[in-house]
Amino acid sequence: MKNYVRIELQPLGEVFQVERGTPLQDVLFEHGVEFPCGGKGRCKGCRVRVLSGRISLNARQEEVLSSREIQDGWRLACAARAEEDLVLEIAQWETNILTDESRFSFTPRAGLGIAVDVGTTTLVAQLVDLTSGQVRAVQSALNPQARFGGDIMTRVQHALTDDGREELRRIIHHEIGRLIALLLHAPECPAQPLSVITLAGNTVMHHLFCGLDVRPLSAYPFESESLGAQRFSAKDMGWSVPGDPTVCFLPCIGGFVGSDILAGILATSLHDSETVVGLVDLGTNGEIVIGNRDKMICASTAAGPAFEGARIEMGMRAATGAIAEVHLENNGWKCHVLGNAPARGLCGSGLVDAAAAGLELGIIQPSGRLNGDGTPWQLMPPVALTQKDIRELQLAKGAIAAGFQILKEQWADEAQELGRLYLSGAFGNYINRGSARRIGLLDFPLEQIVPAGNTSLLGAKLALFRDPDELDFRPLLGRIEHLSLSVHLRFQEVFAESMLFPEQ
Ligand code: FES
Repeated sequence: MKNYVRIELQPLGEVFQVERGTPLQDVLFEHGVEFPCGGKGRCKGCRVRVLSGRISLNARQEEVLSSREIQDGWRLACAARAEEDLVLEIAQWETNILTDESRFSFTPRAGLGIAVDVGTTTLVAQLVDLTSGQVRAVQSALNPQARFGGDIMTRVQHALTDDGREELRRIIHHEIGRLIALLLHAPECPAQPLSVITLAGNTVMHHLFCGLDVRPLSAYPFESESLGAQRFSAKDMGWSVPGDPTVCFLPCIGGFVGSDILAGILATSLHDSETVVGLVDLGTNGEIVIGNRDKMICASTAAGPAFEGARIEMGMRAATGAIAEVHLENNGWKCHVLGNAPARGLCGSGLVDAAAAGLELGIIQPSGRLNGDGTPWQLMPPVALTQKDIRELQLAKGAIAAGFQILKEQWADEAQELGRLYLSGAFGNYINRGSARRIGLLDFPLEQIVPAGNTSLLGAKLALFRDPDELDFRPLLGRIEHLSLSVHLRFQEVFAESMLFPEQ
């Protein structure tokens, strides 16, 4: 019997060989299959469909998949091994990764720098000419840690297992090192040493990259003492980079408010604003900051993974086949599917749109109840929205809306009104602001909500132009107050109210 089996992925048409018995989780991640619950068999996010060959059923598959799904050939990649030649249809592929092409002002410095946005799902690195501010090359990839879990808490749980922390550290160093090597070999890269590499990401990404203990982030009060900027040399990372530059992971602000938000403050100039401005990163972990040049208040709120399509019955990331928009049309609704493909699932922006449309059409009540006997709402067969999906959305939007409300109240106490709200990150960029307002996710005038793009990457880029001694951002951090919502007296009450949808 041969020791290797052939795997073909459809519709990508990719073919490769793996050793017989290899867990599919080990090989499919790099082809776009996600493992949102870290392979625990809880989310169905890793489903693949067997078109040819056989993946045997086991108890976990039977427990999680419906009999219809099993009959149609769906299997959980996280609970399967490649025992024979397989042709698999993978449900998720071709993910758009948000980079940054915005213009920015800077004081020129000599040399080259690389800025990296270390996202929970994606990585983006840009090579920047520090004399001209020009971006010479860009590289992006999926964060390879995502095969151990789609959201930050699943990642933390993996880091707490034997060798888990070291494994997560090693694979992120390796992947970012690979992106840097690709940038340095780009034809647009001048032959000169690199001066500095800056990285920005949320607190968990910061801790895992820097090899810090994530235990304090795993339990109440979720505060770590190791939030500061962490510096290394490229050699420390095992990267062969001309000039052996300083590698600096920018400091976190507090709790689960990471350097992605610090970078967002730099990118939006929130810290220099005369008027009061807000910045919200809508993710599994919602991060919010409100302030002006005198003072800023920030908080994080556990929204859960609904906005990323996880724990949603037919949820998926914003990739080909995802319903990304739902519009009202002729007293009914119309879905827009990404990639000109048949609908396969529902991503975060589609979920928010669907809920907004459902409220307008009277299919969903302000309490969140689906009308009728609770039969799932067929958006575009086979994609449907279930009662449980709506509850997940209510939890996610309730957490963000409550955090935002409490920070707004804090400023109202000081008789200052919020003038503008920036939305950062991919989800903030693609979400329909009208729908977000309709479902009560963002209680704010529409014309004052501004999608700000990948502010984490832009902020990391701006940091490249600073004096290396100033990368700890002490004076700026001294102006930001971190509010812990988990102990805030009003949080639970506001959260419960915020879970309801507005009547109008
Ligand atoms: S069920 Fe496989 S990753 Fe969640």
